[in-house]
Amino acid sequence: MDAKLVEAISIQIREEYDSAFLYLAMLGWCTRKGYSGASHWLKIQVEEEFSHALKFYNYLSKNGEIAVILPHKQQPTEFDGFLQIFQATFKHEQFITSKINQLCKLADELNDKKTRQFLVWFEDEQVEEEENAQANLDLFKKFDNDFSKVDAEMAKRVLVSSEDKKK
Ligand SMILES: [Fe+2]
Ligand SMILES: [Fe+2]
Repeated sequence: MDAKLVEAISIQIREEYDSAFLYLAMLGWCTRKGYSGASHWLKIQVEEEFSHALKFYNYLSKNGEIAVILPHKQQPTEFDGFLQIFQATFKHEQFITSKINQLCKLADELNDKKTRQFLVWFEDEQVEEEENAQANLDLFKKFDNDFSKVDAEMAKRVLVSSEDKKK
């Protein structure tokens, strides 16, 4: 594989772990504030982000490349509020989508069809991630910022493994 792509995927592995730790920090905040449904939702999200990081790592391994493990960012422990957390998750997923799009562009430029094909899963995943984040924001509107009702809805989230999703 082209070294530029190995580097870019290594950076993406860090982004996925950073996402996991960001959501873990949000989970801690929600748990402290008594939002058990949101904590549940975020816990599933943390697991998803770890699985994304490993999916990239495994892809490099399968192609005889070893990811460079980069230091992760310090995440905040305080957040402005319950609604603000879910506004931030939406913005964060838009940022991750832009990173995935950059990876796709690089694979295209390098004419690496195999990697480009691998990235389709992540393109689809980001559509879903943004939809999920938007659906959370919609709950705040639906329940007119009644946080306990929003929290109760978030409790209903079910973990779908990335293998099941692929089919
Ligand atoms: Fe992710
Ligand atoms: Fe994500």
